[in-house]
Amino acid sequence: MLHRTIIVLTLLAAIGVTYALAGAPDGVITVSTSAFEPLTRPAAAFAHDEHNEKAGIDDCAACHHGEIDGKQTLEETSEGTPCADCHALTVKDDRTPLKRAYHRQCMGCHKTTGKGPANCGGCHKPWPA
Ligand code: HEC
Ligand code: HEC
Ligand code: HEC
Ligand code: HEC
Repeated sequence: MLHRTIIVLTLLAAIGVTYALAGAPDGVITVSTSAFEPLTRPAAAFAHDEHNEKAGIDDCAACHHGEIDGKQTLEETSEGTPCADCHALTVKDDRTPLKRAYHRQCMGCHKTTGKGPANCGGCHKPWPA
């Protein structure tokens, strides 16, 4: 029994290490808000790694999709490139503007999975302690 516990703990530690090595950012708890300053709402809570582990999302492309010929693609990822580099604040070249891009991605998944907040105050508040 003790052995099994140790094996499980070792496995969990190994998964944790792999995840950290995958290049995910440390300590991101809100999405970058610089494009929106001055804010009209408290910054949306998003503890990157903790959120993604809790939500069970392994695929970086689920959020950091790439772009081929002006179209969104899941075959390439774009982690490390801020959303704002491709999605401008206002509509440009038929691009989804930044606020809508965040809202569609975040709320879209919460609505389809029935998990995670879809109400304004559920995101625009500090990450729960
Ligand atoms: C649920 C959505 C989601 C998933 C899944 C996700 N990320 Fe992110 N990540 C974000 C958001 C949102 C930001 C902040 C982007 C911004 O401010 O432009 C971010 C930021 C980052 C950053 C900081 C640089 C940047 O783009 O601003 C890195 C590096 C990163 N993510 C890597 C990863 C890796 C590696 C994975 C897969 C192991 C991953 N992410 C999975 C949503 C996600
Ligand atoms: C390398 C460029 C690039 C990056 C980085 C990028 N996107 Fe996109 N995204 C696109 C392109 C191109 C499209 C397709 C055209 C469009 O709808 O704007 C798209 C489409 C979308 C859509 C679909 C809109 C719809 O109507 O279905 C959402 C939502 C979205 N992006 C959110 C995000 C978020 C959030 C981030 C950051 C985590 C991000 N994107 C990062 C290029 C990018
Ligand atoms: C691909 C799906 C997906 C995407 C994209 C996604 N989420 Fe979530 N989110 C979830 C799931 C699933 C949960 C519920 C996790 C759990 O079981 O507690 C969640 C939970 C949350 C919670 C509640 C956390 C808690 O402990 O109460 C917040 C806040 C949140 N998400 C913010 C965001 C923000 C902000 C974004 C966009 C940057 C985002 N999410 C994008 C799936 C997603
Ligand atoms: C699932 C998470 C989520 C929900 C729910 C959500 N937002 Fe957001 N919202 C974001 C993210 C992520 C951003 C971009 C980063 C930021 O400003 O915090 C954003 C940005 C904004 C901005 C631009 C920045 C600012 O403060 O001026 C406004 C306005 C906004 N949201 C209003 C709303 C309103 C109104 C609702 C309810 C109808 C809502 N949001 C629901 C995640 C969410």
